[in-house]
This record gives sequence, C-alpha cells and structure tokens, in this order.
Amino acid sequence: MSKLQFVLIAALLLVAVSAKTAQEWKTRNIYQIITDRFALGDGSKPYCDLNKQPYYCGGNFKGIENNLDYIQGMGFNAIWISPVPDNYPNQFHGYAAKNMTEINSHFGGADGLKSLIDACHKRDIWVMIDVVANHMGNTDQNYSENIPFNSPDHYHSYCIISDSDFATKNMYNIQHCRLAGLADLNQENSYVSNYLVNWIKDLVQTYNVDGIRIDTVPEVHPDFWKQYTTSAGVFATGEVFDGDFGYVASYIPSVGSVLNYPWYFNMRDIFVNQKDMWGVRTYYQNWANQHADLSILTPFVDNHDNPRFLSDQVFNNGKDRNTRIQLLKGYTTFTLTSIGIPILYYGTEQYFSGNTDPYDREPLWNSLNTNSDMYKYVQSILYAKNITNAGLQGQTEAYCDQDLYAFFRGKLFVGVTSKFNQVTRQIVTHPFSNGEVICNIFYPTQDCLTITNNSFNLVLIGGEAKIFVPKSLLQKSSQFLRSASS
Ligand SMILES: *[C@@H]1O[C@H](CO)[C@@H](O)[C@H](O)[C@H]1NC(C)=O
Ligand SMILES: *[C@@H]1O[C@H](CO)[C@@H](O)[C@H](O)[C@H]1NC(C)=O
Ligand SMILES: *[C@@H]1O[C@H](CO)[C@@H](O)[C@H](O)[C@H]1NC(C)=O
Ligand SMILES: *[C@@H]1O[C@H](CO)[C@@H](O)[C@H](O)[C@H]1NC(C)=O
Repeated sequence: MSKLQFVLIAALLLVAVSAKTAQEWKTRNIYQIITDRFALGDGSKPYCDLNKQPYYCGGNFKGIENNLDYIQGMGFNAIWISPVPDNYPNQFHGYAAKNMTEINSHFGGADGLKSLIDACHKRDIWVMIDVVANHMGNTDQNYSENIPFNSPDHYHSYCIISDSDFATKNMYNIQHCRLAGLADLNQENSYVSNYLVNWIKDLVQTYNVDGIRIDTVPEVHPDFWKQYTTSAGVFATGEVFDGDFGYVASYIPSVGSVLNYPWYFNMRDIFVNQKDMWGVRTYYQNWANQHADLSILTPFVDNHDNPRFLSDQVFNNGKDRNTRIQLLKGYTTFTLTSIGIPILYYGTEQYFSGNTDPYDREPLWNSLNTNSDMYKYVQSILYAKNITNAGLQGQTEAYCDQDLYAFFRGKLFVGVTSKFNQVTRQIVTHPFSNGEVICNIFYPTQDCLTITNNSFNLVLIGGEAKIFVPKSLLQKSSQFLRSASS
C-alpha cells in the first residue's frame, strides 16, 4: 500500500469513527435552541419585541458557547441549533437561505460555528444542525441573489401548496409547489441535487457535526433524502409535520429517523385534556402496526412551530397556571424517559408559555436561571436516566388503566397520569427484587420504599409523576443528592 493510500484510508477511518450513528445517539438527550434567541456572546440582554417579527434579536453561537454550563447542568448532552447558512434579511430563524456557501454572520460566521462545536465536543455535548434542502429564502421568481441556485431551472415552476394539498396528501403538489411561498428547489435537476448532497457532506465534515435535523421532509421526494442522508453520514431525524402514523413512518427508510409528531399530538392531547391513560397503549399499538423502531425516533415536548404547552392557545384559555404546570411536568417526564431520543425546546425549563410563532420564540437571556423549579425538575429526570443507563434499554409496560401508565427501562421505573385524583395501584411487573429499596428521584431522601412480596404500591397525588430508581444507585451519587436537597 502506498503512503497516499494509507493516509486516505486513515482519513476515512477517522471520519467513520467521528460520525455519530443512530445507535450512538440513543444515550443523548437533545436541547433545542433557536440560535438567535438563546443568549448573546457579549452577555448583553437586549429587548426582543415578539410583536415586531421577524428580526434578529442578537443571540449567537458565542452566546450558546458561553452558557454550556446551563445546558449541561440540566443533564443535556446534545443541542439542536438553527439552520446556519446566510439568510434573507431579518430571517433570524434561518429557514430562508440566500447564500448557501456562507455561514450566517449574525450568528458569528464560520469561525463562531467551529468554536461552538469544538467547545461542545470538549464537554461531550453533541451538535445537531437544522438543515433545509427543500427551498431557498425568496418568495418571488427572481432568483438572481440566491447562491448558488440563481437560475429558474434550479426551481420547480411556480405554484403554492394549498391546505387541501396537505389534507388530501397530494404528493405531487406537496413536492413540486411552494411551502409558504418559498422558492421550491428542483431536486430532479442534477446540478441542484448534486450540490445539496455534496453541501451536506461538506458541512458535516468541515464542522464535525454529530447529527442533522432535516426541515420539510414530505416536500421533497424520498429518493432524494436517501442520497442526502447517506452523504451526510451521521444520524438524521426529519420533520414530517403530521399526526398520521403510516404517513410519518413512510419516511423512516429514506431519512433514518423522524421527529415523533404522533407522540406530540397524542400525548399532548392526553395530558392537556386529561384523557384516559388507555390512550398511551393505543398510541404504542399504532406504532407497532407500522413496525417502527421507536428507539431512534425523536419525541419532543414542544418546538418552534407550535404553541408552547403552557400557552393559552393550547389550553384554550382554560385551566389555571398550577394545573397546567403539573400537566407539563407529567408530559415532560414521560417524553424525556420513554423510548426514543428526546428533545426539550429551550424555555420549557423556565415555564415559557408563548402562543404559536412568533410568540413561542422568546428570548431566553433574561431567564437563564439554574434554580428555577422546572430546571431542577428536568435535571432530576435526566439524572435518573443517566444512572440507570436507560437510553440503551428497551421499554416494558408495567401497568395501564384509565388513570395510570407505568413502564420501565432497565432499572428506571416511571409512572405518569393525566388525572388529579389520588391514584394508588399495586405494581407487580417491575425490574426490582424483593427487599430492594427504591426511591422517587423527585424526593430522593423522602419518598423511598422497599419491595415486598414482589410488589410495591405506586401512589400518585394531584397529577404528579414519579420515577423510581434503586437507592443503591443514588448512594453512589451523593453529590447529586446534595445539590437536589440544597
Ligand atoms: C457568498 O458567500 C461566499 C462565502 O462567504 C462569499 O465569498 C460570496 O461573496 C457570497 N456571495 C454573495 C453574492 O454575497
Ligand atoms: C432581479 O433582482 C436583481 C437583484 O435584486 C435585480 O438587479 C434585477 O433587476 C432583478 N431582475 C428582474 C427581472 O426584476
Ligand atoms: C452519565 O453522565 C456522565 C457525566 O456527564 C457521563 O460521563 C456518562 O457517560 C453518562 N452515562 C450515561 C449512561 O448517559
Ligand atoms: C403477595 O402477593 C400476592 C399477589 O398479589 C397476593 O395474592 C398475596 O396475598 C400476597 N401475600 C402477602 C403476604 O401479602
């Protein structure tokens, strides 16, 4: 073998080793950030007027880099950041690209991105970048400013996807017409598809990206996504904004993973409307019918395209704040512990309650409080997952009726309810042994019990969720117990 061959093979191996697979992502918990809304590198806290949208409020890569303690302290070991290419003016969210060859200077450009990713990797935080291959940022038919797609034949001919196209799943129109009027790239043009496929490979390799979140998946033919994700060579999860299990599942073969929108729609409905927990079992049956591997899908609590859980819009102005918060806690506990690679949208940990876009994209810089109730609550959940290595375990149903859903993954036992009456159930299916002492992670020194006669009583009061882990695992982690009780 020549020296050059050796170097090439060594380089290939290096890429193969650093590229993160779906399997490796299973131990990750993802914190979703709108890059413009998280924090500023210089520590300033400008006023951000959500009524005057869209515009840049000033958040950037350096702001994230300077606040990694905040993210890691909650227990997250991965972040999802906004799309990075240069965008049309004021398009702070990043979904309106103008120059694909340039990293958005508002966020800190190429150097800022490299610096952020290096800083994350030093702490073993993985970085998932949001990417768009469906459209460019202009809404007219003058493409001259789009780089490199500046010619009309780089785009599908003009038409707009209608609501009825989505409702009837008119795939020809969904794939060939414009979403929200945005210039719709023609992936059947080989210049366009080759460029995009090379672009993603280059982005991943240049910046050492660990994963990608793909925008607007149904709007492009699945054959393209297969090429695109193969070229990316890292874990990819795609946005199929739909509650239909079969439709969402149909994109798993080409993308690898999808955001678990069926989870979001079904669980949010159960918790918000305090429906029977039987619905959870139905949900799992629906996925089982699709033969989907839930362990690599990405369930989420909230995101930037939907009103936040605590919002008036979600609750239709009903239910008081404390009730909403209790339901949020149950729903968050379930989302972060159940099978899949879970995502928490920034601000949930500070009880943000914005209605849908633009109100769900609040600035976080006035609220970076590591002592808030929900921050600590999330910290406890992710800590329990960590000490039980639950991310790598399957999930077994322990109990289901109208008032309770309970399951375990390894030695992590979780009980959740949408009901506020006292729920007391004898649990006989669980991972613990007779005589073993288990403790509820939310009150690790107060709410402990001993397994007797192979069972224990699970008691949930006022809508609370409980996570039981063996006390022996907690004792090895006295540092956490101190911080939890302080
Ligand atoms: C696009 O970005 C590249 C890389 O930063 C830059 O060299 C080029 O001038 C940009 N093109 C335009 C038209 O701004
Ligand atoms: C397209 O946009 C460019 C740059 O804004 C402008 O110079 C040009 O005149 C426009 N072309 C047409 C046909 O309007
Ligand atoms: C638990 O957290 C520690 C410290 O961050 C980390 O090194 C370890 O890999 C984590 N274990 C699991 C199973 O997530
Ligand atoms: C042990 O559990 C079984 C099954 O639930 C029950 O029938 C039995 O009465 C229990 N025995 C004692 C001593 O509690």
